[in-house]
This record gives sequence, C-alpha cells and structure tokens, in this order.
Amino acid sequence: MKGQILNILKTETRVVSGEILSARLGISRVAVWKHIKKLQEVGYNIEATPKGYLFISAPDALYPWEFEEKEYRVHYFDEVNSTMDIARELARKDCPHFTVVVAGRQKQGRGRLKRTWLSSQGGLYFTIVVRPQIPPVLSSRVNFAASMILAQTLRNMFNINAMVKWPNDVLVDGRKISGILSEMEAEIDRVSFISIGIGINVNNDPTPHEPMATSLKKILGKKVPRIEVLKVFLDRFEDALNDADFDNVVSEWKRYTQTLNRHVRIVTAHEVSEGLAVDVDDNGSLILKLADGSVKKIIYGDCFHK
Ligand code: BTN
Repeated sequence: MKGQILNILKTETRVVSGEILSARLGISRVAVWKHIKKLQEVGYNIEATPKGYLFISAPDALYPWEFEEKEYRVHYFDEVNSTMDIARELARKDCPHFTVVVAGRQKQGRGRLKRTWLSSQGGLYFTIVVRPQIPPVLSSRVNFAASMILAQTLRNMFNINAMVKWPNDVLVDGRKISGILSEMEAEIDRVSFISIGIGINVNNDPTPHEPMATSLKKILGKKVPRIEVLKVFLDRFEDALNDADFDNVVSEWKRYTQTLNRHVRIVTAHEVSEGLAVDVDDNGSLILKLADGSVKKIIYGDCFHK
C-alpha cells in the first residue's frame, strides 16, 4: 500500500486529497493517514496540508515497498550481522526464487576467503537467493552473470568504465567498487539454492584500510539514490536468469574483463601462483601460463593485477 501511495503522490505535482487517495486505493482515509505518518517517520518528506498531501522527497532508503511487484520477495533490515545468514535461513525455509535480503549496514559483513567486508551506512549490501535449474558444476556461471550485469548496469546508468576482474569483482579505473560472495547448497546433480551476496560502494567512503577501493560518490562527486541502482540491477539480473542461456555467460563476461592477457598473482587458501592470465574456461576457472611455460587451472582465489 505504501508503494501505491508513493506512486500516486510522486506523479502529482499538486496536493492530493486524502479522499482521492482513499477512493483510488480502496482504503479508509484514516488508513491513508496512518500509512503517510509511517512514511514520514522513516524519512519521506510528505507535506500534510488541510487540502491533502504533497510529496517533496524520498530518503536514500531501500524499503520493500519501493520495489513494486518484487515487494513481497524483498526483506529489508536497518542493520544485520550479514545478509548472507538471513538469506541462508530463508532459503532453507523454501523462500521463493529471487528473494532479496537488503541491509542498511552489516556488523559482520563477510568477504571472500574469510575476509571482512566493511559495511558502513551508504553502501549497498544485499543477498539474492536464486534457484536455477542447473547442476552444481555450472553454478559459478551465475556469479559471472551477476558481476557482468552489474558492470553493464553501472556503465549504462552512470557512463563510467566499469570492468570485471576475475573472478567476480567490479572495478572502475582499476579500483574495486563491488565484490561478490556466493554460497550454495546442492544435491549431487541439482542446485538447491545459491545465495549471491553483493556489496557495492555507493554513497559510503572506502576507509584508509581499503586504498584500492572506490565508490560511486567518489567517482561522480555526488551521492546517487541507492534504490535506483538496486532496482535496475535486480530487474536486469532477474531477466537474465529467466532467459537462462548460461552457455554464453563466460564468453560475454570476457568482453568486460581486465584480467586477461596480463600478469597476475593468485592467492588461494593454500598457495600463491603467478603467471600470465591466458583464459577463463566455460566454468569460470582461470587458466594461468606459468614462468616455466606450464599451464595451471585455478578454480577460485583472489586475483591481483600486476
Ligand atoms: C568480496 O569481494 O570479498 C566479496 C564481498 C561480498 C560482500 C557482500 S555485502 C552483502 C553480502 N553480505 C555479506 O556479508 N557479504 C556479502
């Protein structure tokens, strides 16, 4: 209902009476007033005049009612430990495909390879639960689709040169703007769910501990509405998953990568390898040519461009 009230108010430049709202939405004027009071409390600037209501501005917020038909699949929290934990719980309780858990802040945001993901106010932190009909061996293609679609989204929305770094980081001018962590539960031949956790530096300032990080605010010199970034990305990603031709994901991803044909250092939980990144195979493994001429295939790790 709040989404519908906002839609009406946002399209009107003049005051809209409680009577009109109540007739259009089929609820009482008191109910309209209660919804508007709640919206004001959470930061929407809606002027209440004797003649009705006037929308002035929205906060930089991510409330479920902003997501229109996706509203029932979006779970919003001001603060959580990690959206990954909540997504896993929901997934184990059979939440629908493309359920989204969004948080304003995370107290224990997780990065890949057991790192911490600093998650202060102003960034975008969310996990999407997907249930693709694919065998577990192909699951990494979903992450490649996510990072590629995010890079495309940032390019289209802000005209910036977003690129992907193996396996699933998004960089702008060589600095990290987004990282992806994914967790999967599966049977031997079938994925049960994949939780794709995405952190995007939007209106937050990367800390001095993250010298190779950047944010949209830093690049553009102004804040941007996080909700717009999230909505556009979710729409594109959901469409891509539904069209599910995962066969070409990695080859398309390669068009946006800065990793290939350069010398890289790959750090995994067990070892460090250095060499020339010559290819990424259809399942997302990086093919490295080592100094002695041999070829090594790396499934997962952290990549540093040299
Ligand atoms: C990385 O580059 O190391 C991956 C970072 C992933 C961070 C996101 S933020 C939303 C979701 N919740 C988490 O705890 N982590 C992921």
